[in-house]
Amino acid sequence: MDRIRIRGGRPLGGQVTVSGSKNGALPILAASLLVDGPILLRNMPQLTDIKNLLRILGQLGVVHNWRPDGSLEIEAKDKTLYTAPYDLVRTMRASFVVLGPLWARRGVARVSYPGGCVFGHRPVDLHLKGLGGIGAKIDVADGYVTLSSRPKGGVVFLGGNMGSSVLGTANVVMAATLATGTTYLESAAMEPEIEDLCNFLNACGARIRGIGSHLLEIEGVDSLRGCEWSMIPDRIEAGTFLCGAVMMNSDVTVQKCNPMHLLAVIDRMQAAGADIEIGPDFVRNKPTESGSLKAVDITTMAYPGFPTDLQAQFMALMARANGVSVITEKIYPERFIHASELTRLGARIRREGPSAIVEGTDQLRGAPVMASDLRASASLVIAGLGAQGATDVRRVYHIDRGYERIEQKLHAIGADIERISEG
Ligand code: EPU
Repeated sequence: MDRIRIRGGRPLGGQVTVSGSKNGALPILAASLLVDGPILLRNMPQLTDIKNLLRILGQLGVVHNWRPDGSLEIEAKDKTLYTAPYDLVRTMRASFVVLGPLWARRGVARVSYPGGCVFGHRPVDLHLKGLGGIGAKIDVADGYVTLSSRPKGGVVFLGGNMGSSVLGTANVVMAATLATGTTYLESAAMEPEIEDLCNFLNACGARIRGIGSHLLEIEGVDSLRGCEWSMIPDRIEAGTFLCGAVMMNSDVTVQKCNPMHLLAVIDRMQAAGADIEIGPDFVRNKPTESGSLKAVDITTMAYPGFPTDLQAQFMALMARANGVSVITEKIYPERFIHASELTRLGARIRREGPSAIVEGTDQLRGAPVMASDLRASASLVIAGLGAQGATDVRRVYHIDRGYERIEQKLHAIGADIERISEG
């Protein structure tokens, strides 16, 4: 198993380029189940999660081919298969997003029911409510969800106790594109990844209106055809690099990102005293004279609020700020496993229900730490940059699920970071 070793305290500088969005790419890959004919996807990130979903799609008759320029050709060839087995689905929760498109195009879908997750209970009731609301007959038995009958359309309210559901919205929107009638989806997720999925589906011939809003109107069509599409930049990767730049008070430009997708994060960084310049497709952190950060509070929320997927990285930043920061999780109230690993580096963090209280210190010191999930590992890397001495992050396979060559990208902007392979 590989480790990432960071020797902290080194200033960063230069330009780092963001890859295509993982969470944008996953539903678009699943949409290949809906589409007749080949699709060409550009700016596709080479990540474990992407490869895992491609394996699952392979079991469902979808073939793919990576081109030398990094783009991906993908096409559903065998449209008779309809089971996504436990052994594959359990490797990645997000694969539940094949359910809606599989059902809509093939008339039946059987997908393993997702299990637990390190950051708490993650139900799929909204997915099933939405799909049932547009005509699915749903059976849950033997650890599998089976959908049958044809999508008709209907009026669906998708809000839950924690707001809307990103992948739940993706599942319903995809299935609704091939419904016999029209679907009105209220309280749809408004994340940029959903907006991009809808735009992609329209480029394939779908009829979706209200894109980017909480009310989507989807008029069913008979079939979808392939198209060429380019993935949007990964806003979470961009935000992670910005956290590193702000942590080290360094002149770093995060290139090929969409700053409009990062405004909640930039807002909190500016409130903490960072000097941030926003360009058309870049965000630059400029060093400040004092070099010190003020503690600020954050509350994670659905888009356009502060993203839960950057909470852990921002916590690492606050661990070195002046003062006390309250970090509240409104999406996953249990998503705090990183907090105890950060305390191994000297961070002062305590839990109060769905909040973490972070008392900043300039005394972070390197230590061996264990990655527990994707964003938690990224936060340990950011903390390692700001800690004195060496930090070894173990179980880095978590980080490879969502960051393309993170150690190479950070090394290129001056970090003392290396991957150590242990066979
Ligand atoms: N929820 C329900 N019922 C459902 C579905 C969700 O109550 O049927 C709740 C969840 O428990 C949570 C909230 O609704 O409290 C939001 O969850 P959501 O369904 O939106 O999450 P998701 O679609 O499963 C995606 C991302 C996550 C990201 C969340 C929130 C992908 C592949 N995953 O998950 O990304 O944290 O939205 O923004 O898009 C990551 O990349 O590290 C990651 C975990």
